[in-house]
This record gives sequence, structure tokens and C-alpha cells, in this order.
Amino acid sequence: MERQEARALNGAFALLPRKRLTKMKIIHITDAHIVPEGETIYGLDPAARLAAVIDHISANHADADLAVITGDLTDRGDPASYQRLRSLLEPLPMPVRLMIGNHDIRAAFTDAFPDEPRDEAGFVQSVMDLPDGAGRLLFLDTNEVGWSGGRYCDSRLAWLEARLQDAPDRPAFIFMHHPPFPLGVAHFEQICLAQPEPFIAALKGHGGGVPHIFLGHVHIPVSGVSPSGIPFSAGRGCNHQIVLDFAARDCTWASGAPNYNIIRIGEHGVIVHAFDLIDAATIGTGAYPPGP
Ligand SMILES: [Fe+2]
Repeated sequence: MERQEARALNGAFALLPRKRLTKMKIIHITDAHIVPEGETIYGLDPAARLAAVIDHISANHADADLAVITGDLTDRGDPASYQRLRSLLEPLPMPVRLMIGNHDIRAAFTDAFPDEPRDEAGFVQSVMDLPDGAGRLLFLDTNEVGWSGGRYCDSRLAWLEARLQDAPDRPAFIFMHHPPFPLGVAHFEQICLAQPEPFIAALKGHGGGVPHIFLGHVHIPVSGVSPSGIPFSAGRGCNHQIVLDFAARDCTWASGAPNYNIIRIGEHGVIVHAFDLIDAATIGTGAYPPGP
């Protein structure tokens, strides 16, 4: 590209008001697996890794509208770990929405975070609307006591259907711990969302559409489009991460780098950027416009 042309293009971009393009910027953290002080998981310190993620978010994305943690907040659901999580989250400059996964215990979570919204039946489910009627965020509770897989019972499904009917024309953005469809990884074959058909039917029947499902649980960075045509993404998580093996039923863990995703929803659609802390250290600069 000629230098003059590049300058003109750069100038055109500069005229676009950035805030108008993005209705909402959301930080997606998942699978923190916090343990009591002095304990580790596979030699890793989940609290130190979450603290590093929070430091990086605070330094680089303080303008985000919301941070969401899609479950497995703690490793064993014990009160000490939830209290530790509460302290770790304090520096985050934006509102935080907490969800539970299969490693969490609902009662202990609600004891530690009594102000976190729940539905009428006590499930950790809630709604948040985007500005200007641009969409509705739905945070779902797929925790099933005593099981690694997820379940979405009739009570929870009725709540979801009512929240979709409340806003029939608004796009519904779903946050949930367990994937409601297979991901082609043997380890997760039996521990995704059980009997997902009524859940998927509710989403498919929503007039406003479902532009994206944001997932936890899998400890690998994965994205795609479900058999029902709904795009999805999951982060690799903050702590232990799975070495990708499509065929193995057992899994091998790796430390990897603590990760979070940055979600931007707006007139440009849905854009998800993954950030691994291994990328935090810079090694040089590149002037515009040559590119990578
Ligand atoms: Fe997990």
C-alpha cells in the first residue's frame, strides 16, 4: 500500500467514534479453581494466577463494562476458597458477575456472595441488558450436585424461556459453564450438558436469535459453530489446562499461561479476543502500516 493511501485510510479510521461501535465490552474469565491458602493444584497456585490476570485486566481493560467468571470459581466449593476469591476480586474496577460450575457448591457460594443475583428457585441465574435494546445477556446455572457434567432442569429451563419471552426481539447472549453440544474431545463426551435438546430448542425458538454462547469447563481455547448454528467460544482458563488430545478419555494437564478473553458486542457484531499472560511481555514495536 502506498504511504499516502495508508495515511488516508488511517485518518478514516481515526474519524470513527470507538465507543459508538461497541455497546458492551466484557472480560471473560473462567475456571479459576481457587483453593485455600497454602494449597496448589498440580503444583500451580490458582490464586496467584488469578491475581496476575486481574492485575493485567485492571491495567489494560479498566474501561470494560463487566467481568464474568463462567464457573469453577473454586476447586472444592469450600467457604475458605470463596472468601479468598472475594479478596482476589476486589481490585477489579468493573462490575463482576459470578457463575458456578461443577467444582462449585451452590450453598457455599451463596453464603459467601449473598448479593450475587439468583432466580426465584435459588439457582445462580440472572439477566443483564445491553444499552439501546441491543441484546440481553443471560447467565445460566448448569451445576448438578455431585456430578461433573451439567444439567438444565425444568425449573431452570422455565426461567430461561420466560427471560427470552420478556425480550422476544433482542439477541440473547448466553454464558454457561457446560457446553450444550459435543466438542469432539473424548474427555468431555460424558460431562457436557446432559439431555440438551429442550435447552437448544428454547434457544433456537428465540425470535431475537442467539449470536454467541460463552463457555467454561473445557480448559482449552476453542471456538466454532454448534450443530444448531450457534457460534461459541471458551477460554483455556486461569489455572491448569488440558493438553489437546481428541481421542484420550483421560486427560493430561499442563500449566500453560493464565488466560482471559475480551468480548466486544456492538455494531460490528461479536468479537472475542483471547489473551494469554505469556503474551504480556513485549519484545519490540512495529510502526503502522506494515502489519504483522
Ligand atoms: Fe474447571
